[in-house]
Amino acid sequence: MVRVSNNDRIFVLTGAGVSAESGIPTFRGVGGLWRNYRIEEVASPSAWRRDPRLVWEFYSMRRRVAREAEPNPAHLDLAKLEQRIGDRLFLCTQNVDNLHEQAGARRVVHMHGELFKSRCDSCNRAPFADARTYEPPAELPRCECGGRIRPHICWFGETPFEMNRILQALDGCTLFLAIGTSGVVEPAASFAAQVSGRARTVYVGPEEPANRYAFTERYLGKAGELLPSLFEVVERR
Ligand code: APR
Repeated sequence: MVRVSNNDRIFVLTGAGVSAESGIPTFRGVGGLWRNYRIEEVASPSAWRRDPRLVWEFYSMRRRVAREAEPNPAHLDLAKLEQRIGDRLFLCTQNVDNLHEQAGARRVVHMHGELFKSRCDSCNRAPFADARTYEPPAELPRCECGGRIRPHICWFGETPFEMNRILQALDGCTLFLAIGTSGVVEPAASFAAQVSGRARTVYVGPEEPANRYAFTERYLGKAGELLPSLFEVVERR
């Protein structure tokens, strides 16, 4: 059990594993997306330059899958924790689905972008809500400026979003939890090591992550099964 006292500031990092029980495939491992697709063909700036249609087919497929998904007990429990401790919880996700929000979380930081948003690849127009799918024979979307509309996703080779806020929250946290992330993709894979020594570091997931040595506690099991009884919130005056 993870004890949370009223002095604690919690940084939660979630990964694809947290949405696995909602039916959204993870990336690595059996059945993972990267077993069937090549990153450099669908999730990189060069893929976008070479074949934007293929990129949109990939993200259209992912939009269709995510549209059907519903939050599981892990998302619901994190939303409940946020309701109890407010801004002492910093919820940072590598996931691009909106299941944390659907579960009721209000302040989610999407470091790898959002599946249901698009933006222009040329002008400064702000990212906008977009749940459409762009598959043949549909035309690929264009911005008024003439640029192409692309998924609002941080691709391999791009800089994750909101890094200033993330680094600040890491600096101030007393408890760091990573849930359902294999610990191989940077910069998120280094967050635990960055805070270890001065914050408790906890991992939750069915397998040991690649960065397991950075964690002081590891709870092996499915997030949806472990999270509902993981936290003990102790409120003292
Ligand atoms: N509960 C918790 N964890 C789970 C569950 C579950 N029910 N099922 C699987 N997992 C774990 C796996 O054991 C694995 O460690 O989730 C992790 C998923 O790992 P990855 O597929 O590598 O996903 P993630 O770590 O989120 O990937 C990081 O890589 O491709 C990019 O941008 C993509 O954000 C993604 C990033």
